[in-house]
Amino acid sequence: MDTFSIVKPTRVSWEAFKDFRLQALWDEPQAFSSSYNVEKNAPGKFWQDRLKNSKEGKRSWMVFAKYGEKLVGMVGAYQTPDDSKNKEANMVAMFVAKDARRKGVAKLLTTSLFEELQNAQLQKVKTCVNIDQLAALHLYKALGFAKVSEHSLLFGDGKTHTVYLMEKLLT
Ligand SMILES: CC(C)(COP(=O)(O)OP(=O)(O)OC[C@H]1O[C@@H](n2cnc3c(N)ncnc32)[C@H](O)[C@@H]1OP(=O)(O)O)[C@@H](O)C(=O)NCCC(=O)NCCS
Repeated sequence: MDTFSIVKPTRVSWEAFKDFRLQALWDEPQAFSSSYNVEKNAPGKFWQDRLKNSKEGKRSWMVFAKYGEKLVGMVGAYQTPDDSKNKEANMVAMFVAKDARRKGVAKLLTTSLFEELQNAQLQKVKTCVNIDQLAALHLYKALGFAKVSEHSLLFGDGKTHTVYLMEKLLT
């Protein structure tokens, strides 16, 4: 029987990454600040570079979940130059396929991501969440993230939503 496994970007083809990211943007347009229409025509190099950068683990990370050979989850993180100075990273692109939810996949993904960020000597992880995404909000609270501020942001569904900027110490 197949089980969930957490895999590094080296075990994911850029085509599979592209398909899964587009699935995320299609299924949950209100969860991401980018959109299906913006990313659907991006060239192969765009997806190859995103994976390549995260393989190097310098200022960019990605962790994937598979069920058998099928991608069912992903999460990423990146640093701006200021984040780098402050030993912080931004967690982004969190998505678990609908038929794999409530099985602990997001917890596995974040555990692996935080290990990588700690190995890179980072001290804090930040994220931004649409407060209507209740599953994500519950998840982040359960992981120890705390709200630091509230803003408005345009999402992939073309609407402006209230977001919480949240932070968690990694130490
Ligand atoms: C948020 C999301 C990643 C959670 O993935 P998941 O694999 O189902 O989460 P897990 O099974 O690991 O759940 C971990 C914890 O998150 C919380 N949680 C997850 N789904 C929840 C839900 N539907 N309702 C309430 N709490 C939920 C719970 O605290 C859960 O712990 P528990 O099962 O012990 O109660 C998934 O629902 C998703 O992809 N949502 C759409 C995309 C999205 O909103 N991304 C975030 C962008 S900021």
